[in-house]
Amino acid sequence: MRKNVLVFRPIPDDLLARIESEHDVIVADPRQPAQRPAFRAALTNAHGLIGSSVKLGAVELADAGRLEVISSISVGVDNYDLPCLHRRGITLCHTPGVLTETTADTVFALIMATSRRLVELAAHVSEGRWTANIGESLFGWDVHGKTLAILGFGRIGQAVARRAALGFGMEVLYVNETAADPPDLVGRATRTELDDALRRADIVAVTLPLTDSTRGLMGRREFALMKPGAIFVNGARGQIVQEDALLAALESGHLRAAGLDVFATEPLPQDSPLRSHPKVTALPHIGSATHETRRAMADLATRNLLDALAGRQPAARFDLAAIAVQAAA
Ligand code: DGY
Repeated sequence: MRKNVLVFRPIPDDLLARIESEHDVIVADPRQPAQRPAFRAALTNAHGLIGSSVKLGAVELADAGRLEVISSISVGVDNYDLPCLHRRGITLCHTPGVLTETTADTVFALIMATSRRLVELAAHVSEGRWTANIGESLFGWDVHGKTLAILGFGRIGQAVARRAALGFGMEVLYVNETAADPPDLVGRATRTELDDALRRADIVAVTLPLTDSTRGLMGRREFALMKPGAIFVNGARGQIVQEDALLAALESGHLRAAGLDVFATEPLPQDSPLRSHPKVTALPHIGSATHETRRAMADLATRNLLDALAGRQPAARFDLAAIAVQAAA
């Protein structure tokens, strides 16, 4: 049976055509003000949604009475009201796995960029200031051999650990609710408590999901626990960090640098001090943004959507029941 699908972020033409071959499709991206009325109108009739980067909470979905499935083109599901979806029996799908290595590359790129001051030194060349051999004031900091603490040890955290331990000879600590022992990291990554990891690491990288228990996790106390001269990297979600506390730690000289792919508000507001802070390497949320990976995410999300609408088990259904059980515990 043909159903109504609302595509709320552009997807490749061939994937759109695949959905159109089975269902009636409206494309409307509510991030574009001109498309908001069409988005709201389509929502009331939609059986399926596919897209990302739009907050869809209980209020936004109040009129979506026919909704059966949301297929998110993201691994993170923090834009959705999970208890509400569970209560209403709406299936949520996402895109784990296909973006793991690309996102770990981004986290590691931030570790390299901040430690070796790559952005600052590239500007030194492009702005014509390289007129003599550089002196100590522009030297960087080694990455190999340092201690890296990874907060969150899911697929992406483990992929960062592989790069660090196997490629760069780093000591790896990780903080995670449960112990994880991937065979290739046995003896190379040690689980510890948050405070211990913060005290011991030269570099702290966040790869946690945003949940009620991780929101605001990194505040003044946590930054103060980090080693003087340490580096902080966030490739997960901006709201895990209290940005004013991070700024204070950078400005006091306690932290050497921060590499940030994500921010509490995105796009980063024009007046955010993080935008041009000399100790911050800021990226526009590019964790998974390569041609290959974004294509793979859109492809998986399309398959998830079509399977769920057809009553088949989607390849990557988010387990809303497990969240409900945790919340009740
Ligand atoms: C994800 O997949 O969750 C990325 O951060 C894009 O939002």
